[in-house]
Amino acid sequence: MKRIILLGSTGSIGVSTLEVVHHFRDEFSIAALVAGRNTERLIEQARRFGVRRVGVADAGAAREVKRALPRARVYAGDAAIADLAAETEAEMAVAAIVGEAGLVPAFRCLESGKDLALANKEAMVMAGALFNREARRRGRRILPIDSEHCALHQGLRSGKRSEVEKLILTASGGPFLKKKRSEFASITVEEALRHPTWSMGPKITIDSATLGNKALEVIEAHFLFGFPAQAIEVVVHPQSQIHSMVQYRDGSVLAQVSPNDMKFPIQYALSWPRRLPSPFGRVRFPGMTLSFLPVDGKKFPLLPLGYEALRRGGGYPMVFSLANELAVGEFLRGRVGFLGIAEAVQNALERWDDPPMPDLPALLDAAGRARRLARAELNGAVRKVE
Ligand SMILES: NC(=O)c1ccc[n+]([C@@H]2O[C@H](COP(=O)([O-])OP(=O)(O)OC[C@H]3O[C@@H](n4cnc5c(N)ncnc54)[C@H](OP(=O)(O)O)[C@@H]3O)[C@@H](O)[C@H]2O)c1
Repeated sequence: MKRIILLGSTGSIGVSTLEVVHHFRDEFSIAALVAGRNTERLIEQARRFGVRRVGVADAGAAREVKRALPRARVYAGDAAIADLAAETEAEMAVAAIVGEAGLVPAFRCLESGKDLALANKEAMVMAGALFNREARRRGRRILPIDSEHCALHQGLRSGKRSEVEKLILTASGGPFLKKKRSEFASITVEEALRHPTWSMGPKITIDSATLGNKALEVIEAHFLFGFPAQAIEVVVHPQSQIHSMVQYRDGSVLAQVSPNDMKFPIQYALSWPRRLPSPFGRVRFPGMTLSFLPVDGKKFPLLPLGYEALRRGGGYPMVFSLANELAVGEFLRGRVGFLGIAEAVQNALERWDDPPMPDLPALLDAAGRARRLARAELNGAVRKVE
């Protein structure tokens, strides 16, 4: 029985993870659940899975959770959630908190000897070198949940690393693939939240519309698999049927296909290196059309900016992620325009002077500075909109 800490249980990935765990209840159990502020869903999940340890970011909501779950130990607030991550006995943690908030709990899980099933790409983008060092030190694994990286993980199983020419990440292109750049300034939040092929949480849905998500994934692929920026390519594939590909030096390309449902990569990460029989449907090939297009970096400047951040290295990927997260938050609140997101990221990257970040405290300190810098850049953009 593999015991799992589920960080971000009330979100899109969290709910899908619980469906997988429920189906394979002889294989997996839930050791702890962590959420932000959706107490109603958290309480229901804890009751359903018999969980005695829960964490909730919103300290005010903790009292309600404690009342509803009198026999559970409730950890309230960010510092307590980090303690839960370190103290709870488990073999694996699913990192599915969105954004920067997920970094410390995921790191504490790894540091205390759990494997990580990683959905929270922002954590890996911000602190990939530290996560890898900690995983090596503890002899633990970081298994991707992102469908593209799950596809690459599978494609890389068919050959030697030295035989790989490049990784090819597929991108749906988002809802604005065919929209003219001249119309981008008037894009509304509602339009940007309409993803053509996936149903996900709001931040990643906006990231998919700007292609900022693909930029984060390029950086994530670098840290997960160790390939340089020039060996990671992005191709637009509007149907999202092929989740990504590995090209070997003999010209063979291995593409991974499975239904567009995050339960597939979640199941893969939870059960690796085994393959368990999935009840979640099968791909139907008759009638399927696959098409591919190059990415237009002028229309979607966050992708070239992400490559640039990766090439510069150091804290630049972290600045990219933080500036993007802040800007997406403001876009969702209607306070900056769609084009303002890439603008804010570019300005923050330009103004960053890269301090060394040898350990987690130094990284968190630098992250504080990066956040203040990005916030200052954003305030200019907010004023422009108002
Ligand atoms: N959704 C997908 O299909 C998908 C695919 C690939 C990768 N990912 C990645 O997976 C991560 C989660 O995405 P999602 O779509 O599942 O997001 P989501 O639906 O917005 O869920 C986010 C989760 O994080 C929790 N949370 C937020 N702030 C928190 C905090 N300070 N402390 C503790 N928990 C906190 C939320 O809790 P409350 O709701 O209770 O506030 C919720 O459980 C993201 O990094 C995303 O990029 C998602």
